[in-house]
Amino acid sequence: MPPAVRPYLGALRRSAIANPARIGLQKRRLMKSAALSAAERELLRRVSSRIHHRDGMYAGSGEQYFLAGLSALACIDEVLRAASVEEVADFLDMPSGYGRELRFFALRFPRATCTACDIQPGATDFCAREFGARPVVSRPRLGEVSFGRKFDLVWCGSLVTHLDPDSTRELLRLFARHLKPRGVAVFTFHGDHVLRRMRDGGETYELDPAAVPALVSHYEAAPARASSHFKTSMRVTGCSSHAVARQSTGLPGAVFSASSACSRS
Ligand SMILES: C[S@@+](CC[C@H](N)C(=O)[O-])C[C@H]1O[C@@H](n2cnc3c(N)ncnc32)[C@H](O)[C@@H]1O
Repeated sequence: MPPAVRPYLGALRRSAIANPARIGLQKRRLMKSAALSAAERELLRRVSSRIHHRDGMYAGSGEQYFLAGLSALACIDEVLRAASVEEVADFLDMPSGYGRELRFFALRFPRATCTACDIQPGATDFCAREFGARPVVSRPRLGEVSFGRKFDLVWCGSLVTHLDPDSTRELLRLFARHLKPRGVAVFTFHGDHVLRRMRDGGETYELDPAAVPALVSHYEAAPARASSHFKTSMRVTGCSSHAVARQSTGLPGAVFSASSACSRS
């Protein structure tokens, strides 16, 4: 096949698998799953089936796609309960991507102002158009990002996994600057699944390959791994704004972990 034709065929394939009728069918199949609670089934019934053809999080399985959103919401609800946060008036989803999770948050917090932040302008535009989010385009240097408002809740799904330690600190500082006094940030980071892929599968998650061995040994030495309930493929942690501020300044962070109940792949 001539190389020049490949991108067009790729776009055609992506458009075909992101067909709303096909995705709607996949969604209805998932709704029959006995593993879902009644509340999750209702959210699923109402959630949009529109997936952007450039959304890299959709590889053809609507079931996986929607389950990821429901799992994010379960993590958030667990952390909000633990932190006794009852009202969410302003929330941030960063990185929003094309709204795989944000579409559920918009249903769960219908009166809240939702900000979608990603480095891809097309992704934040889609979130604004489809889910009523306020779009903010991020920067490679996270210290340069500003939202002009503070949040009760920040969800950060699958960004830390791709960041080096300095950028991760920058991200935590960014959240600390933008959380209301009783606000919480919930974020996912490396877990056993990521570790195995890095250690045994050569996966780098866009990090400097030279930095991977140190990251793996650091993770393997972390005390959380000793925990018997640590079965998740990504750990999910919620922090109070105070804890985030302490974490980002390099002091021992008093984060509370929701890893026992939350799972996410
Ligand atoms: C693995 S995806 C996760 C997206 C979404 N949370 C989800 O689970 O569907 C990672 C996202 O991070 C975004 N990203 C990468 N660097 C970023 C940055 N500096 N600021 C904001 N978003 C970034 C990418 O564009 C991509 O959409």
